Amino acid sequence: MSPIDERTEATPLPLRARVSASRRDTTTDADWAAFEERFDAESPRLGELFRRIYGEGAAASEQLALLAIDCAQSWQRRPADLRALDSRRATLPDWYQSNRMLGGVCYVDLYAGDLAGLRSRIPYFRELGLTYLHLMPLYLAPEDNSDGGYAVSSYRAVSPSLGTMTQLAELAAELRANGISLVLDFIFNHTSDEHEWARKALAGDPEHEAFYWIYPDRTMPDEFERTVREIFPDDHSGSFVPLPDGRWVWATFHSFQWDLNYRNPAVFRAMAGEMLHLANLGVDVLRMDAVAFIWKQLGTTSENLPEAHLLIQAFNAVCRIAAPSVLFKSEAIVHPDQVAEYISLEECQLSYNPLQMALIWNSLATREVGLLSQALERRHAIDPGTAWVNYVRSHDDIGWTFADEDAAELGIDGSDHRRFLNSFYVNRFEGSFARGVPFQDNPRTGDCRISGTTASLAGVEAHDAGAIDRILLAHSIILSTGGIPLLYLGDEVGQLNDYGYLEVPAHADDSRWVGRPPYPASAYATRADPTTDAGRIYQGLRQLIEVRGYTSEFAGGRLVPFGTHNPHVLGYQRPGADTTVLVLANFSDGAEEVSAETLSGLPERAMDLVSGHVVTLSGGVTLGAHRFLWLRLG
Ligand code: GLC
Ligand code: GLC
Repeated sequence: MSPIDERTEATPLPLRARVSASRRDTTTDADWAAFEERFDAESPRLGELFRRIYGEGAAASEQLALLAIDCAQSWQRRPADLRALDSRRATLPDWYQSNRMLGGVCYVDLYAGDLAGLRSRIPYFRELGLTYLHLMPLYLAPEDNSDGGYAVSSYRAVSPSLGTMTQLAELAAELRANGISLVLDFIFNHTSDEHEWARKALAGDPEHEAFYWIYPDRTMPDEFERTVREIFPDDHSGSFVPLPDGRWVWATFHSFQWDLNYRNPAVFRAMAGEMLHLANLGVDVLRMDAVAFIWKQLGTTSENLPEAHLLIQAFNAVCRIAAPSVLFKSEAIVHPDQVAEYISLEECQLSYNPLQMALIWNSLATREVGLLSQALERRHAIDPGTAWVNYVRSHDDIGWTFADEDAAELGIDGSDHRRFLNSFYVNRFEGSFARGVPFQDNPRTGDCRISGTTASLAGVEAHDAGAIDRILLAHSIILSTGGIPLLYLGDEVGQLNDYGYLEVPAHADDSRWVGRPPYPASAYATRADPTTDAGRIYQGLRQLIEVRGYTSEFAGGRLVPFGTHNPHVLGYQRPGADTTVLVLANFSDGAEEVSAETLSGLPERAMDLVSGHVVTLSGGVTLGAHRFLWLRLG
């Protein structure tokens, strides 16, 4: 018997029978057969994961059976165009590895007012070349402070100021018709304290109390807090916050974001239902928010625990059964070893690349490429079929998440170096070009991160002469290392920090808002004018995007390190089918040379894809300040 048969037989028959009973009269034989095939292939994995997380008790088995039925019902509700998309993508499993993939991210309200406004920006997205659009959380959320939408009160409703669920589904379809995949957040670690489940829990409903981590007094909170990290210490110390009735609830982030208790299988099933609802709206990629925190265990940091992986794999299996073309993107802003653990076809096919992001800024500050080069050599390769999402900055702070042990090998002391980077980027370091703002400065632990827009961090705000070249250099890396490059929309026209957040009471304590300016209309208006900053940045980026689009070597993620023997010049090769592109990038403020000897194994001449010029390699190559070459060899 083949292993597949064994696994199929292991599916408990009652489960299969209950699922079959949920077939509706209107479901065609073909659609039902497609479902059953996937159910038989994937449900053993789901069952096994469920047993590993929740054991074999009756409560867990019942939740698993109900979940299986939810899957069948959700598939039958899945709109026909999405089921067609599922079939197409099954034949093109690596569609997201294309060198034409280009991501953008924005807040609907800040960028376009509302969903209708966002629709009207689709022509611009096409002009830019986007194929992937992440809309920041747009769900119903508390009015006053919702952590930028990351405190969700209902996954089934769009915030009324932005539009309706129907508009969202229509937008998804329109984006798809324009070649753009919609990315939305699946914020599954916590809900807002205004979510129906939270309200019921607060009112003492035992079923919903069991959805959260609620304790009558400080005994257990004190125990847990011995070993967990403080994430937003400006909001509250420790992990627990008091409730009006004197009880305590776990809130990793803000006090109004209550962590869900995944030890309760009913929570998994409930959240899987919310996930499938999003999937059926036409979401192509779910950004799996705060993955590191979803499982808690006394005596541990309660981050990155093995069960967190099992849970995400179980969500993945649910999607494979009921919404098979949906992908997961991991948001783990943690040690690089742990970032990598979330990435696989069975867990998250995509992941933010926070290490590359932080090290681009590190290289711009130090003018040296040692750490970045080491990261590309050691930490860039991930499972076949998976992809990095490479970015210069996000809506969040920048944390210096390189591994201390990697830095030590290069003679760098991790904590000293982080202190330097923080002071450099908040302009406390003499001669710094950067204008960032500290985030969650925690004098007790020495932890601090920084916030700001790309242009302000790179020197535009400080009127530094190298600023625009730095912006282009930073983006040249995310566009050429392999994976999906993700632009924070507005950065492509050089938007500056927005200090207006200090006037908004709900934002004033959260410096990440400095990097979330409203739509920079005047900068966009001059994007075609190369005498403006916006025009220089935009035209420069557009050209890189276009070149990347016809450079097939940039598809996929394979990268071969190339030692330049110059501490200021980064090198790597991107092998294609017959040819290779050699990238050289100078992070120094002056001209730098890569010697003839270093280049001696290469052809005498190569075409620089960016400028279209032939470059002679045989005598060595000199790169001006912040210049880079994309050299096609052979
Ligand atoms: C993620 C988001 C961040 C939010 C947090 C809590 O890290 O990127 O903005 O504060 O999750 O949901
Ligand atoms: C979220 C927060 C960020 C924090 C990280 C920890 O991304 O926004 O500030 O560093 O979580 O994982």
